[in-house]
Amino acid sequence: MSNETIAILGGTGDQGLGLALRFAKAGRRVAIGSRKVERAVEAAEQVRKQVPEALSVEGRENADAVLDAPIVILSVPFEHVAGTLKAVRERLVPGQILVSMGVPLATAIGDGAVRTLGVWQGSCAELLAALAPEGVEVVSAFQNVSAHRLQALDAPVECDVVVSGAPAARRRVMDLCALVPGLRGVDGGPLPNARIVEAITALLIGLNARYKVADGIGIRLTGLPGA
Ligand SMILES: NC(=O)c1ccc[n+]([C@@H]2O[C@H](COP(=O)([O-])OP(=O)(O)OC[C@H]3O[C@@H](n4cnc5c(N)ncnc54)[C@H](OP(=O)(O)O)[C@@H]3O)[C@@H](O)[C@H]2O)c1
Repeated sequence: MSNETIAILGGTGDQGLGLALRFAKAGRRVAIGSRKVERAVEAAEQVRKQVPEALSVEGRENADAVLDAPIVILSVPFEHVAGTLKAVRERLVPGQILVSMGVPLATAIGDGAVRTLGVWQGSCAELLAALAPEGVEVVSAFQNVSAHRLQALDAPVECDVVVSGAPAARRRVMDLCALVPGLRGVDGGPLPNARIVEAITALLIGLNARYKVADGIGIRLTGLPGA
């Protein structure tokens, strides 16, 4: 497992770059995807500069980044998730895991970030599950993690990650969480629970503003056995 590449589509943005830094730091191979290969290469260079010991960090076009990557994280704003998935769909193969991190924030229609939109399928994750090729498992994760905290490599992230999807696939994504100091993967059950997790992000954005926490507030669940 440790030799497997993690692809991050839209890994040129704040959240994807943060995950790329953390996974590279943990010794995992990372492929950063972008619509423009130059942007991806630039982001990969930035990661290698910050994590000189990184095993392998490559920048590729999104459609090339998904090749040979057992886990593909979709890290683009909600309004672009469907288009981005459609652009790489032909390259995805059964057995791959597609991680949905998007949140249907009302910013997608020019409204505020403290509210979510109704999605016909129920959530961003379920929308992606409806669009993904057969045999590709969609798992929902990382929506409540702050990009600022991911990028602050010297500090633990201190956040629980509720991971939802089919059991074997969600277990693999929970294992990814354990690579990042402070992150804890929590078994979030079936994919429709993404509806709840995605909505929490809008709540967190409001809390960040009211409590003036520029680096982002996270969540912790208490009382979990074995915690
Ligand atoms: N930022 C956070 O703190 C945070 C926290 C939790 C969850 N999230 C979620 O993580 C995801 C990424 O967030 P982010 O803040 O990193 O987003 P972002 O920086 O606004 O965008 C990420 C990437 O999306 C790509 N993109 C932009 N416009 C696009 C378009 N029209 N079509 C296709 N791709 C486009 C861009 O990559 P290229 O131009 O290189 O293709 C961009 O670098 C979102 O779904 C967000 O809800 C973010």
